[in-house]
Amino acid sequence: MIIESKQGEALILHPAVKSNGKKMFIESYGCAMNFSDSEIVASVLVDKGYSTTTDYKEADLILINTCAIRENAEQRVRNRLKEFNILKKKRPSTMVGVMGCMAERLKSKLLEEEKIVDIVVGPDAYRDLPGLIETVEGGQKAVNVLLSRDETYADINPVRLDTNGVTAFISITRGCDNMCAFCVVPFTRGRERSRDPESIIAEAALLFEQGYKEVTLLGQNVDSYKFKVQSSKVKVEGVEEEVEEFVSFANLLEKVALVNPLLRVRFSTSHPKDMTDEVLYTMAKYDNICKYVHLPVQSGSSRVLELMNRGYTREWYLDRIAAIRRIMPECGISTDIISGFCTETEEDHHATLSLMNEVVFDFAYMFSYSERPKTLAERKYKDDVPEEVKTRRLREIMDLQQKNSAVRTKVGLGKVHRVLVERISKKNSEELAGRNSQNGVVVFPKGDFKKGDYVDVLAESCTIATLIGSVVRAKS
Ligand code: SAH
Ligand code: SF4
Ligand code: F3S
Repeated sequence: MIIESKQGEALILHPAVKSNGKKMFIESYGCAMNFSDSEIVASVLVDKGYSTTTDYKEADLILINTCAIRENAEQRVRNRLKEFNILKKKRPSTMVGVMGCMAERLKSKLLEEEKIVDIVVGPDAYRDLPGLIETVEGGQKAVNVLLSRDETYADINPVRLDTNGVTAFISITRGCDNMCAFCVVPFTRGRERSRDPESIIAEAALLFEQGYKEVTLLGQNVDSYKFKVQSSKVKVEGVEEEVEEFVSFANLLEKVALVNPLLRVRFSTSHPKDMTDEVLYTMAKYDNICKYVHLPVQSGSSRVLELMNRGYTREWYLDRIAAIRRIMPECGISTDIISGFCTETEEDHHATLSLMNEVVFDFAYMFSYSERPKTLAERKYKDDVPEEVKTRRLREIMDLQQKNSAVRTKVGLGKVHRVLVERISKKNSEELAGRNSQNGVVVFPKGDFKKGDYVDVLAESCTIATLIGSVVRAKS
């Protein structure tokens, strides 16, 4: 799940914390995990007396939480640093920190390449930010890019930034142990680790108490969530053996669903090689677990999937889609696709298009392949698909998805959707917008409803990706 750049909102300090009179500005790029991390960072710094601002020009500390997934993600950050530089020239005391995946990838090299930067901090070192700030105050540059095997920030209560007060992210795992050939994430986020389920449930319960109605559980591969809860000794044929007990992703999902039936639960990202029927049955069992799966396929060609080191074939992927549709016929499905990976032929590309025709995804995030330093693909394969071919294939993929999205949206017409209201509609202030269980956007006349209400809406018309309807009845 990739989110475009957003920035933090003004924040009122907790009365127990003494203000240090300083303001921080945090801007995030990349995936939902980065946005969630920015909320952890805000919490660490609010505890040190910082307040947040949405205007970087009045900030004492500018933090930019970066993404390294594709070359252009890094370019955007460098351009933004140039803008911050104009301010720094006027007010040299402004501190600039780069955090997240690009910080981890480039480490202290970033200080040489971008003179404006004072702090470089990797995804597992955010607790050290107050110390790094002190170092800079003492006149030096500061770097901490140590990756950890156990940091999950489980005890940190995130400060919700840019919030609608209705939906929130909860990180359940960090890092990734898969080595997809194209992907930089294992290098920028380190080894996979799962967060204590009790702290996840407590966070979900607190959010519900605060009026939130939806949580999205986040991990690069949520299906590999595994937390050891206890080990007990049992006797097997007279020999004492230690038995370990684990909480799986399906167990965790159920526990979060049980926090309250009025708290919706979503999650991202599922991995085709690891997504079990048990997870699907758990989703089907609870009304408040949204019927929506984001299942990145990357390519429809088994040959390319093997080169990508994804751990599944086209047939396996289609079997997982069949399982979703068998267990939850109404389920929304979205995906990620890469065009022009190393050695991709026209035939491979057509295999991707034909898979898209077979599945008919509700939604897709589509990218052209960007070679990343240190990855398996960069070390072993040639980035041999010409840029114009990648772009043309990407366009074909996008055009097909556009058609398919329209088809899938139309399936919702004439049906009643339970919508969780998230905001005023962007196009019409007399309308509200929210999402149905399948993650589709639904808009309807405002009436007396407000953010956080559940409303049943009959879909009467639609655009490519939005259902438009009228209220049938309201639910609590
Ligand atoms: N953990 C998730 C994906 C995380 S990155 C998963 O395994 O599916 C989000 C998406 O970015 C990926 O699904 C992939 O489609 C895309 N992506 C990752 N590396 C890329 C690269 N080098 N070039 C182009 N797209 C890439
Ligand atoms: Fe990257 Fe693969 Fe891990 Fe996803 S599962 S983050 S694509 S290495
Ligand atoms: Fe996310 Fe980008 Fe890092 S997609 S994990 S912020 S490289």
